[in-house]
Amino acid sequence: MNILAVESSCDETAVAVVRDGRTVLSDAIASQIDMHTLYGGVVPEIASRKHLEAVCLMADQALSQAGISRGEIDAVACTYAPGLIGAVLVGVNFAKSVAWGLNVPLIPVHHIRGHIAANYITHPDLEPPFLCLCVSGGNTMIVNVRDYTDMALLGATRDDAAGECFDKVARVLGIGYPGGGPMDRLAAGGDPKKYPLPRSKVDGAPLDMSFSGLKTAALNLIHNAQQKGEELDLPSFAASFGQAVSDELVPRAVEAARMLGYGKVAAAGGVAANSRIRADLAAACAREGWQLYLPERKLCGDNGAMIGCQGYYEYLAGHQADLTLNGYAGREIGCNDWRAC
Ligand code: KG4
Repeated sequence: MNILAVESSCDETAVAVVRDGRTVLSDAIASQIDMHTLYGGVVPEIASRKHLEAVCLMADQALSQAGISRGEIDAVACTYAPGLIGAVLVGVNFAKSVAWGLNVPLIPVHHIRGHIAANYITHPDLEPPFLCLCVSGGNTMIVNVRDYTDMALLGATRDDAAGECFDKVARVLGIGYPGGGPMDRLAAGGDPKKYPLPRSKVDGAPLDMSFSGLKTAALNLIHNAQQKGEELDLPSFAASFGQAVSDELVPRAVEAARMLGYGKVAAAGGVAANSRIRADLAAACAREGWQLYLPERKLCGDNGAMIGCQGYYEYLAGHQADLTLNGYAGREIGCNDWRAC
């Protein structure tokens, strides 16, 4: 079964062709990073307009790279939530038009379920159940993946997402947008214990996290150093910050994994590309005797292949939409009826 998959929830316009869930025939991506870099962050209205410009081109590219014709598309999948609403709507409406034009099923995919599915592409042996730490620019959550389309939220950030936190701190340091990658590279060789940064605790919700205090503390540290004319040891600052983010995420994921007892842990989302987090997860899983699954780095960020992969399992579960499908800025990960949650 060939699925044409469309992803447009933030600043990448991505269209892929995925066969039978796990074979990626093509994965075309148009990144808008150069445009948003001018503003130091994603400008939602610009993102929507850029998706409009790119989506047909990416679909043509995905088909030609896959070496198949339009008639060989069996279904169309798209991210319908969560994301920047104008951006999501471009992909949803494009997918609706293609599904209608080709007279094939339309499959709505939750963006974070898509990120989780990136693991199925990298690890053909991986099957649910497992625990997944989902960390991206807009979402930070710990998810019980009971089955391909049966998921429950165990913990989440109460405020900022981990990726957003990386991006804001990197912006103040002037090291580029999005900032997670540059912060990660800067941290190599730095001392992760040099700068004291806070770790959060949410009363009564041990698996919930908070990043706004860490973000403020990091920004204060930078500004105080600037005001005193002191030079920050940038690699050590980036390493200390990366360690603080990892300390928010990894111990909670471990606690959740112990609770579930699956013996299988995965990570997903753009921030799952982070070296410190990957290393800390690997060490924790080795200690506990669990199997760790990480998507290859190029599949951590937004892409169409992950939507095509998850779309296949949504299709098998009978989750289809009609042409009244809408896009949503927010939707629970456990939601299986796009109209109702
Ligand atoms: O998953 P993603 O591409 O988009 C969303 O769905 O949000 O994630 C983008 C986020 C950005 O905040 C970016 O700074 C972060 O992922 N990121 C990283 C790394 N690479 C990308 N954060 C930390 N370390 C990295 N190596």
